[in-house]
Amino acid sequence: MKVVRTATEVRAWRARSGRVGFVPTMGALHAGHAALIERAVAECDVAAVSIFVNPTQFGPHDDFRSYPRNEFADLALCERLGAAMVFVPSEDEMYPAGDATRIQPGALALLLEGAARPGHFVGVCTVVAKLFAIVRPEAAYFGQKDFQQLRVVQTMTRDLRFGIRVVGCPTVREPEGLAMSSRNAYLEAEDRRNALALSRALFAAGDLWSGGERDPAVLRDRVKKVVSQPDVALEYVSVADPYTLEELRGPAGQVVISVAARVGKARLIDNVLLGLDVDGVGPG
Ligand code: PAF
Repeated sequence: MKVVRTATEVRAWRARSGRVGFVPTMGALHAGHAALIERAVAECDVAAVSIFVNPTQFGPHDDFRSYPRNEFADLALCERLGAAMVFVPSEDEMYPAGDATRIQPGALALLLEGAARPGHFVGVCTVVAKLFAIVRPEAAYFGQKDFQQLRVVQTMTRDLRFGIRVVGCPTVREPEGLAMSSRNAYLEAEDRRNALALSRALFAAGDLWSGGERDPAVLRDRVKKVVSQPDVALEYVSVADPYTLEELRGPAGQVVISVAARVGKARLIDNVLLGLDVDGVGPG
C-alpha cells in the first residue's frame, strides 16, 4: 500500500492504476469506513482512501481541534482491507496560500445539517471536488449515515459533470443500534446508553411504516416521542423526500427520516430510509 502526501504523487500513482474506487474520509476510521473500503476493493481495480480533517467544513464553534485523529491505526486498517493507496495531505497541500475558490451547493445544502451548520456543505463540496480532481476515481463511496452529504455530493457530481459514480452504502451500526461515527469517541458509557434513543426512535418509525403507516406527521411524532429523554437534546426530526429533502406534508412511498441531537459532548445524526435502499439512490 502506498501512502502519499501530495497531489503530484497521487497523479503519478493514478497514471499507473486502472479503475479507481475512492473513499474520502476524515480518519478515525471505524467499521462504517471499513465497509466502504471493502466495497471499493470489491468493485474496482484498486481502492484509494484519503484521510484529511477538512477545516473548511467546521464552523467556528465546531470540533475541528478535538476531532479524533489516529493516522497510525487508520493506515494499518487501510492496509489490512487491501487499499492500494492512501492520500494523507497537509492543510497547505489542500488549501495552499492564495486558495480562494469555494463550491456553493444548491438548495439541498441549506436544509437540516446545512441550516444547523451554516457553510458546512460549502466546505464538504469544496474538499470533495478537490479530492475528485486529484484522484480522478471511477466511483466514490459514501455512507448513508451522512445521507444529506451523500445527496449533496451526488448532485454536485452530476451538475459539475465529474463523470464519477457516487455510491451510497448502508449505515453500519453497533450491535445495540448506535450508528458508527468517529464522533462516538466523545461518548462516555452513560452517553452511549442515552445515544441509543436515536436509533430506537428511527426503528420505531420503521415499525410503524412496516405496519402500513404513511402519514409523515405520525412518523415524525413517534420519532420525537421515543427520542425525547432527559439527557438527549433533540435538534431536529425530519420526515422528508429522499431526493429533495423537503419535509413531507402528505403520504409518500419513499421517505428519509433524519434526526440530530446532542448527547454528552457529541452532536449525533442518524437516519433511516423507508421504501427504498440507499444503493438505489442516484443523482436524482
Ligand atoms: O464524511 C466525511 O468524513 C467528510 O465530510 C468528507 C466526505 C471526507 C469530506 O471531508
